[in-house]
Amino acid sequence: MSNNKILLKISGSIAAYKIGVLISKLIQNGFEVQTVATKSALQFIGPATLEGLTGKPVYSDMFESGQMMDHINLAKWADITLLAPATANTINRLAAGMGDSLVTALFLAHDWTKPYLIAPAMNTKMLRHPATKCSFKTLRRWGVHVLSTASGSLACGDSGDGKMLEPEIIYKKLINQLHCPAVNSLSVLITYGGTQESIDGVRHLTNMSTGKTGIKLAQYFIQRGHAVTCLHASGIACPGGTKETISFANFSGLDKKINDIINSNTFDAIIHAAAVSDYSPVAMDINGQQFHLPLPEKLPSSNSAILKLEANPKLVDKFKSHPKAQKAVLVAFKLTYNDNKKDKNSAVHKLFDHSKADIVVLNDFSTRKNSEQKHFQLFSQKSSLGIVDTAEELAEKLEDILLAQLEKKTL
Ligand SMILES: Cc1cc2nc3c(=O)[nH]c(=O)nc-3n(C[C@H](O)[C@H](O)[C@H](O)COP(=O)(O)O)c2cc1C
Repeated sequence: MSNNKILLKISGSIAAYKIGVLISKLIQNGFEVQTVATKSALQFIGPATLEGLTGKPVYSDMFESGQMMDHINLAKWADITLLAPATANTINRLAAGMGDSLVTALFLAHDWTKPYLIAPAMNTKMLRHPATKCSFKTLRRWGVHVLSTASGSLACGDSGDGKMLEPEIIYKKLINQLHCPAVNSLSVLITYGGTQESIDGVRHLTNMSTGKTGIKLAQYFIQRGHAVTCLHASGIACPGGTKETISFANFSGLDKKINDIINSNTFDAIIHAAAVSDYSPVAMDINGQQFHLPLPEKLPSSNSAILKLEANPKLVDKFKSHPKAQKAVLVAFKLTYNDNKKDKNSAVHKLFDHSKADIVVLNDFSTRKNSEQKHFQLFSQKSSLGIVDTAEELAEKLEDILLAQLEKKTL
């Protein structure tokens, strides 16, 4: 196997104890691993463990005699670099361009034609600190692949986001980045954009969906090598590299296309982010004259008119009742409007009840900025799966969840 040299950097988090499992898996699968640890990291995991597992001494001191040029040479040697666990301190130092340790100096000497991954591990408050958030943004902009964190009980006794991903998941992400064929590529259907319900030849009812979240999800999944089918509102852009793109205009069109797609494909996951109209116009009363809608031509103008709407069934409920889509992991979206926590929770439960979705992504209209939705809260049927700020982070988190589900199914 080529592409097998891994530079594994370790910083001072309690999660460092899990790194032995990752190294062991890498070595068993034929990778050559060189570890570099911060001084703090060596408080958490000993040189004997690292050397014992990799067969190479761990480097830590930039000024070690005979190894003075390691801060350049190791960056050249590696096919891929992983910083795991990545502490808030090291993340912020990397984003500030500091080079005062072997770990940070190697980052400055990194060859950006090769992947650089970080697996953060920290307390939720450290993760949400503006400095850390800003650093994540900077690092992503520079091309660092920032892995998501998991939610659960943390070493400090708190519960929340910030746990380092499990070694098995990090291993998969590494392999993915190296483009090895052993990747568990997912087959994903993503629906996005809003329906437009025709009233007449020139008017329609629609909603405020821009499809931006869906586009970003699709972009991310395509970039990561998954097979993506996009079912998007007509007129909305579709990222290049999709396996298939299909557009829809209105409720009935979307309904039919979902049926067609599900009948002829098998998906590992369905991410249903389309904003589907709850109602379709069926009739208009203008000065006592009845018009059946949609009317192909333009309705006459008048001082007043009565529009009759018919409630549409919930399309999200279709997936789990369809024999070919039942096994797919269904991700449903719920948009609330400035709701309080109790109402949001009850909206999520209601959606789980009728759709039988595996995951619900909740977003509230109040967090919309420049027509882009921010702040997504994820739920499984049993618990909260954490909060992410941006659509890119949502994509990353969903990928982790979906890969974990896929692994469970194939075990
Ligand atoms: C027991 C213990 C656990 C810690 N766990 C974490 C952690 O998970 N994440 C983190 O960012 N910092 C953690 N810290 C704080 C870091 O070790 C500290 O910020 C240190 O300066 C990091 O140095 P480094 O980034 O150079 O490795 C922990 C500290 C202690 C004492």
